[in-house]
Amino acid sequence: MSLRLGDIAPNFVAETTEGKINFHEYLGDGWGVLFSHPADYTPVCTTELGAVAKLKSEFDKRNVKVLALSVDGLADHKEWIKDINETQNTTVNFPLIADEDRKVAELYDMIHPNASEKATVRSVFVIGNDKKIKLIITYPASTGRNFEELLRVIDSLQLTAYHSVATPADWKYGEDVVIVPSVADADIPAKFPKGHTRIKPYLRTTPQPNI
Ligand code: BEZ
Repeated sequence: MSLRLGDIAPNFVAETTEGKINFHEYLGDGWGVLFSHPADYTPVCTTELGAVAKLKSEFDKRNVKVLALSVDGLADHKEWIKDINETQNTTVNFPLIADEDRKVAELYDMIHPNASEKATVRSVFVIGNDKKIKLIITYPASTGRNFEELLRVIDSLQLTAYHSVATPADWKYGEDVVIVPSVADADIPAKFPKGHTRIKPYLRTTPQPNI
């Protein structure tokens, strides 16, 4: 059965480039990003892993642990990382799961046989600090992901989790946000001391609360 938003992210134990990892223990009380790439020694994947390595401090700031996966083996992962570091001018600083038996890929429905029998698609799962799945995105193998966009979505998810606000279309960090419908009008002044605008009873905005 495929996974859905709000489900507990299934736990697993897997070999990675940084040793054996128990997924839930690895996440600890933080957030997580689990993302698959189709195969080692492929061009788009090389650029993606380099991009994530460069953004590692941004994920750290948000208390997010990143974990990559493909169905290649550990020896290939370790050799390929040398190429990524060389060509992307970075140092891969997060673990890559060697999922040769496809255990994790199948658990997370990352193999879409009509796209490829052998490789994973580009799946992304964002997992909250409650271990629940907050976001699922699926990209085809030929399209590299935008990891700045992933950070933007994580900012939105964390604003909802910690501050009871949602983010409007095309929201960027620092712009006004939307007060979630479950907050009663009477509670707004105490909860949002920066002020708010009541455009409609169901559309109430406020400055981003955490800056
Ligand atoms: C890749 O780099 O992973 C890739 C590129 C084109 C098609 C499929 C995969």
